[in-house]
Amino acid sequence: MPNPGLLVLFGSQTGTAQDVSERLGREARRRRLDCRVQALDSYPVVNLINEPLVIFVCATTGQGDPPDNMKSFWKFLFRKNLPLTSLCQMDFAVLGLGDSSYAKFNFVAKKLHRRLLQLGGSALLPVCLGDDQHELGPDAAVDPWLHELWEKVLRLYPILPGLDVIPPGVPLPSTFTLRFLQEAPTACSEEQHAATTDPANTPSELQPFLAPMVTNQRVTGPSHFQDVRLIEFDITGSRLSFSAGSVVLIQPENTDSHVRRFCEVLGLDPDQYFTLQAREPGVSCPVQLPQPCMLRHLVARYLDIASVPRRSFFELLACLSPHELEREKLQEFSSAQGQEDLHEYCNRPRRTILEVLCDFPHTAAAIPPDYLLDLIPRIRPRAFSIASSLLVHPSRLQILVAVVQYQTRLREPRRGLCSSWLASLDPGKGLVRVPLWVRPGGLTFPKTPDTPVIMVGPGTGVAPFRAAVQERVAQSMTGLPCASPGNILFFGCRWRDQDFYWEAEWRGLEERGCLVLITAFSREQEQKVYVQHRLRESGPLVWELLDRQGAFFYLAGNAKYMPTDVSEALTSIFQEEGGLSGPESAAYLARLQQMLRFQMETWA
Ligand code: 2AM
Repeated sequence: MPNPGLLVLFGSQTGTAQDVSERLGREARRRRLDCRVQALDSYPVVNLINEPLVIFVCATTGQGDPPDNMKSFWKFLFRKNLPLTSLCQMDFAVLGLGDSSYAKFNFVAKKLHRRLLQLGGSALLPVCLGDDQHELGPDAAVDPWLHELWEKVLRLYPILPGLDVIPPGVPLPSTFTLRFLQEAPTACSEEQHAATTDPANTPSELQPFLAPMVTNQRVTGPSHFQDVRLIEFDITGSRLSFSAGSVVLIQPENTDSHVRRFCEVLGLDPDQYFTLQAREPGVSCPVQLPQPCMLRHLVARYLDIASVPRRSFFELLACLSPHELEREKLQEFSSAQGQEDLHEYCNRPRRTILEVLCDFPHTAAAIPPDYLLDLIPRIRPRAFSIASSLLVHPSRLQILVAVVQYQTRLREPRRGLCSSWLASLDPGKGLVRVPLWVRPGGLTFPKTPDTPVIMVGPGTGVAPFRAAVQERVAQSMTGLPCASPGNILFFGCRWRDQDFYWEAEWRGLEERGCLVLITAFSREQEQKVYVQHRLRESGPLVWELLDRQGAFFYLAGNAKYMPTDVSEALTSIFQEEGGLSGPESAAYLARLQQMLRFQMETWA
């Protein structure tokens, strides 16, 4: 049978599913298969009926939800009137990426697999259940699954006689060609590029709004272990609009010193301009890059040199290395047997792409610039819960940012790219602009401000609730006093004088009767006191509001233990106050969740 053309469709939230999909694309090309790799929502779904072979790579996010870039597909696929057997021509396989510490582990992939079967597709393999919790990451499940997949695919569509699989040591052609210009262009292409963005469009990933930063203020006390910033942007004239629960996406940059070091080890001149051209028809250059583009711009704003490299990075680097010793080591890191060593070298100490390149200097100096975009992933935007309401701060957008910094066995502390970059910007020293756009978040609040809400937000988890309280109080301000208790906020921090964000504002709202604030200061007494302890103490009120007054319950903050602990506190309240049995209280919580009266937004 002739080469059927393989389609890889992904739903990716943090970039892992996209990365795995691109790996699939490369492995397909090595097997001489035509392969297109696309985000699910950018693929015209009605064309699926003509596709012979489709691999779906889908992450599961939050509480069993599909990633944002497959939401439309998801809605379409589960339409009641979709004719069963409408996809009967298709061979398919589903590769799932999830986290087994969540109850709905790989829910999206499993559900998709079942639905595709129902619609008449033939599954080549059982679903692959990639797990972030695995010591070796999702690859532990993905590697053997892919091995089997290629066996099946090649049995169906053997390579034409006279051709072979392109062996792993030979690099595939680069996706782009990068041509350096001898002279700098006369007009500044970066400024022109910014000017070509159409102000009539709502800002998006393809066309962010360059928002002036107006405040960057540390809000934790001087002796506190963590640097947390209140950051405010001016969004005048941006067409950005948002409401409580919305999220802002920020596109960060690498630091100047990292950009300089990277250019040094690769032997590149950061001030040189280049143009980029895709080698194959159907592939387009990243729209975020101006043409011509300065190398410094590419490295600072596009290449994620501060991220921990994936195995594919070592694979390609090994192919490109002219240095025997370095090549051997790189080959080992990219082999299946070398995965534990790679984990020890890279993932555990969180070693970055830039640091790895410094460890392999002969290889780094020989990287053909054409391969830069294949080798190094794009810097991903970072999401933050918006902490302000446009009704109270018109033309402004505020966020609360914990500056991520920690130590591993490496000498240099590890720093979060986006939070450290934001913290380093000083609006007092001139205009600083940050590329951003917004999207609806995971939390939605009741339309009526007199429906009571219970919000649990320890630490920076309080951010979306500040927006919600501001919005709800402003909405109910039509001369009437606030419904009481309409807004109940459980806030937890270590010390009231170190990390109690917006204390004065909360106190003012309490005095006006617009808020009931219940605090848990974890370190002010011998025994730790957390929000879930306070929640239990308020059991009768919580039960009354949820069961009698149709209250909505929200939870935001650190994903590690808090969500489980708070959910357990809630179910024990249902048992103690509502007289429910264990299973009944779990079912009660599930029902609240179904009705969107229990919602959470958590982050790592
Ligand atoms: P700790 O750091 O003293 O342990 C904001 O980070 C607040 O959340 C801090 O007071 C922190 O306490 C607390 N916190 C830590 N783990 C928690 C958990 N599992 N549930 C609720 N709060 C927690």
